[in-house]
Amino acid sequence: MDYTLIATTTFGIEAITAKELRDLGYEDLKVEDGKVTFTGDEMDIVITNTWLRTADRILIKMAEFKAESFEELFQGTLAVPWGDLIPIHGNMHVVGKSIKSKLFSVPDCQSIVKKAVVEAMKKKYRRDRFAENGPTYKIEVALLKDIVTLTVDTTGPGLHRRGYRENSGRAPLKETLAAALVLISKWDPSKTLADICCGSGTIPIEAAMIGKNIAPGLNRSFVSEQWPSMDSELWEQVREGARKSINKEEFRILASDIDTWVLRTGRDNAEKAGVSNYISFQKLPLQEFSSKKKAGFIICNPPYGERLGEEKEVECLYKDMGKVYSELNDWSFFVLTPHKDFQTLFGKKSDKNRKLYNGRIQCYYHQYFGSQK
Ligand SMILES: C[S@@+](CC[C@H](N)C(=O)[O-])C[C@H]1O[C@@H](n2cnc3c(N)ncnc32)[C@H](O)[C@@H]1O
Repeated sequence: MDYTLIATTTFGIEAITAKELRDLGYEDLKVEDGKVTFTGDEMDIVITNTWLRTADRILIKMAEFKAESFEELFQGTLAVPWGDLIPIHGNMHVVGKSIKSKLFSVPDCQSIVKKAVVEAMKKKYRRDRFAENGPTYKIEVALLKDIVTLTVDTTGPGLHRRGYRENSGRAPLKETLAAALVLISKWDPSKTLADICCGSGTIPIEAAMIGKNIAPGLNRSFVSEQWPSMDSELWEQVREGARKSINKEEFRILASDIDTWVLRTGRDNAEKAGVSNYISFQKLPLQEFSSKKKAGFIICNPPYGERLGEEKEVECLYKDMGKVYSELNDWSFFVLTPHKDFQTLFGKKSDKNRKLYNGRIQCYYHQYFGSQK
């Protein structure tokens, strides 16, 4: 069956997810704030869940219509052929959100949608009650300026849950954002890479997975694996293909930090991700970082200094980063921070800037290009 699929993303990385989709062979993409829409069948649900590094989840778009009253919401939902996707024992869980819409009460919208879905199911299956003891179908009713979008989640726990991170430092990056930082940098394994304040190692681990072409979803499961419409052969086929796609590339990423405990978690995480042979974790203050390599890449997510009393410390750190970079002439430097004065403190205007969100924090991804692009 062909579906309209939505890869949801964090604001600012839609274009990166779109590029990933294009690289996987998808065309006719619609890129909007926080999402990329494309078409595909069951196999495409499996491929995109398994392979997309920067998307948050893959949703099936069931309908889009205008609703300014509960009656319009009910009728619009009832008209959707829910029974074509949801089996008789499916567990129908409805979640919702409403932005700038007349129907602003999310709990009310959720219960109207649930009622309408059950009514549609009653017609399809000619029965009055549903045990709902089967696989989960998470239905989202999203209202934006009175336009309702109804979707069903195929992913389950977000795609950032690769399965390798049990422990993390104080402010770990989401795996999907770390992957986006690496993809934006255009780093490839032939180039030297260092994260000089690596914390629990999310950037180096995601980079190593990119370098080895390890599918980010290879070692986890997805909610739609339980759906009767999704042949288990498809999952096995894509996983088998992904296992064979891991390359023999050899490289070594440097991951350093001053905190012994986070370095330990980084090593553990790298081990679980299957990339420990490609990352050297080292205790090193970033002020002491230097390299004999003429060119290379630094990608990092330094402390932001949000807590009281940390501001000055962080400003000194950014100045120190600038000093380190001034000795690395041909290197590229990529840094994610919300600090308004970063460029001044660092002592250099960045070549390119990109607004990205680290959770709710609006950041800038400052990009300084060296000789390798
Ligand atoms: C925001 S966290 C990095 C989180 C990391 N990206 C992750 O996903 O876990 C910033 C890191 O900078 C480290 N750090 C602070 N000052 C440092 C310094 N002078 N040299 C090296 N690392 C430092 C902290 O120990 C912390 O782990």
